[in-house]
Amino acid sequence: MNIDSDIAAAAEILKKGGIVAMPTETVYGLAADACSETAVRKIFEAKGRPFIDPLIVHVSDMEMARSIAVFDEVSEALAKKFWPGPLTIILRKKPSVPDITTAGMDTVAVRMPSHPIAARLISKCGFALAAPSANPFGYISPTCAGHVKDQLGGKVDMILDGGECSRGVESTIVMPPAVSTEGGALILRHGPICAEELSAAVGIDFTPPKKANPAHPAAPGMMKSHYAPKSRLFLFRGLSEIPEGFRGRVVHFVRPKNVTPRDYWLTENSDVNEAARRLFALLRSLDKTSEDIYCQICPDCGAGRAVNDRLQRASFKA
Ligand code: TXA
Ligand code: MG
Repeated sequence: MNIDSDIAAAAEILKKGGIVAMPTETVYGLAADACSETAVRKIFEAKGRPFIDPLIVHVSDMEMARSIAVFDEVSEALAKKFWPGPLTIILRKKPSVPDITTAGMDTVAVRMPSHPIAARLISKCGFALAAPSANPFGYISPTCAGHVKDQLGGKVDMILDGGECSRGVESTIVMPPAVSTEGGALILRHGPICAEELSAAVGIDFTPPKKANPAHPAAPGMMKSHYAPKSRLFLFRGLSEIPEGFRGRVVHFVRPKNVTPRDYWLTENSDVNEAARRLFALLRSLDKTSEDIYCQICPDCGAGRAVNDRLQRASFKA
């Protein structure tokens, strides 16, 4: 099989209401026709995802985006600057999007992925694809086809293999002032595009929501415990914080001077983007050992903030 015929086969499955795992530049997504209630229901069932958690809808061009959502000036500017790419924008939805996709909300999360296989697949379908990360609900997102196969292999109609994801953490989610009930521009989930880049692009500040409501978070991906491995994960800044006698694995931000068999690292040269790219695959492989893990907190800049956010959520809560 080659990739052209794989994309054609995947599009046929999606047109018939099936579900397909597809690579994106962030993580692998589990895709279905966003406007088909029966197709979208299959995503929730395969993932074991609660129906209160809305999905991101992926588009391949602005015409498709406008057919499902209403753009104001700020969201137009964001789309122009960051699409295709790892930014999800919360917009007012149009009636074509069924309630199941948005969990009954009057807004819809929209993203135009830059991964060529995702872009070609959506455009071949000719309709928007709802796609959450292709993992069982609550577990770490998949960054290669093998991760999807391990956990959802028997539950999806097809897995499109596009190699390793170049970004490795889920998209940044923003809510423009026209949609936010707080009035300001909100950053609902940290991701590859940081608040500073967003602000520089459109000239307004992006801040996390003030009114955190744990029972019904603005973006349910902001739940306190999420992305969790089965091993117990603890965080540290300096090595002195690791208890003496600790026998598990240690994940450093950058390669330590003296490497022992228990040592792992996220980047060779203090590159937060490399750390983001490698994070989930490393956590998955360490999870197989079922030993405790101590992981170092990254510099809090750029994609490093997304890494720290995922580490906080994945960490052990007593
Ligand atoms: O990078 C990504 O965004 C990946 C790839 C596949 O595109 N997708 C992804 O989807 O991470 P998922 O379902 O794992 O995370 C989507 C997040 C959830 O936290 C969901 O609650 C939030 O987006 N969300 C979706 N629609 C929303 C809406 N209308 N308002 C607020 N949050 C929304
Ligand atoms: Mg997810």
